[in-house]
Amino acid sequence: MSKNSIKVFAPATVSNVGPGFDILGFALQTPGDEVILKLTNSKGIKINKITGVKKKLPFNIYKNTATVALSSLMKKYGIKEGIEVTINKKMGVSSGLGSSAASSVASVYGLNHLLNLKLKKKQLLPHALEGERISSGSIHADNVAPSLFGGFLLIRSYNPIDIIRIKSPDNLYCTIIYPQIEIKTNYARKILPKKVELSKVVQQTGNLAGLIYGLSSSNYDLISKSLTDVLIEPVRSKLILGFQEIQKSVISAGALGCSISGSGPSMFALSNSLSIAINIKKAAKIVTDKLKLNTTFYISKINKRGPKILD
Ligand code: HSE
Repeated sequence: MSKNSIKVFAPATVSNVGPGFDILGFALQTPGDEVILKLTNSKGIKINKITGVKKKLPFNIYKNTATVALSSLMKKYGIKEGIEVTINKKMGVSSGLGSSAASSVASVYGLNHLLNLKLKKKQLLPHALEGERISSGSIHADNVAPSLFGGFLLIRSYNPIDIIRIKSPDNLYCTIIYPQIEIKTNYARKILPKKVELSKVVQQTGNLAGLIYGLSSSNYDLISKSLTDVLIEPVRSKLILGFQEIQKSVISAGALGCSISGSGPSMFALSNSLSIAINIKKAAKIVTDKLKLNTTFYISKINKRGPKILD
């Protein structure tokens, strides 16, 4: 008998990853959002419940990232079923952890399985991206793609979209430092310079190439040297209280590198062992406690799988 509901987890993501603004991202094992889709007799999509966030998220299906993604998919494939949606947010909104991407991805992935549409992830991608467009005002795939495909990804081109999987070391750990302030992606994009110096582009592309090569060849020294963002971090870090101090403390604790996750306020630090990842958390906590920043921490390996059906 076919099911009439499905519960899906889709992972949080770290995008930009230092020098890869809008073109690099990886998926985390934790946290991630859960979406429940239920078939109903009434027509169309309805949001039944949103849990897990203090901030009010839209119940209007044309404004909520999850349902915008769903309706885009349903329109494309002429799906007329009635769908009731429950969204369990498991991370802060506007946290820099790709929360809207995770909800969009869980929705389209869930519908594909619930209705046995047999679509490939590649075919789900444009619809999940529509959800992202609603939340941040532009299409950037560096959260959506890793949440959907899992792993470490390069968006080599947007037009046409071309996503390249990057090999990464098996024992790469990520510590997330999430000071609970809200930074809207829209705003964090608006404050960026429209033009940048050529010498900075040379530095940034050198680091980007070094980072990708370092990841693919498990060269931790090269990863560490290359995990530097000279274009975006200097502007956006001003929005994050204590950024420099936290960054310094985690590097002293053994991080390979540390920068802003997506458009912030979360910061990420990479390391090559669980014990260093834990030490990074401890070091950052000393600073965030001192600054009285209400902060959540996550420690995770790279999630190579992407979304998962829970029920
Ligand atoms: N690459 C995007 C940005 C990600 O940094 O604006 C936003 O989540």
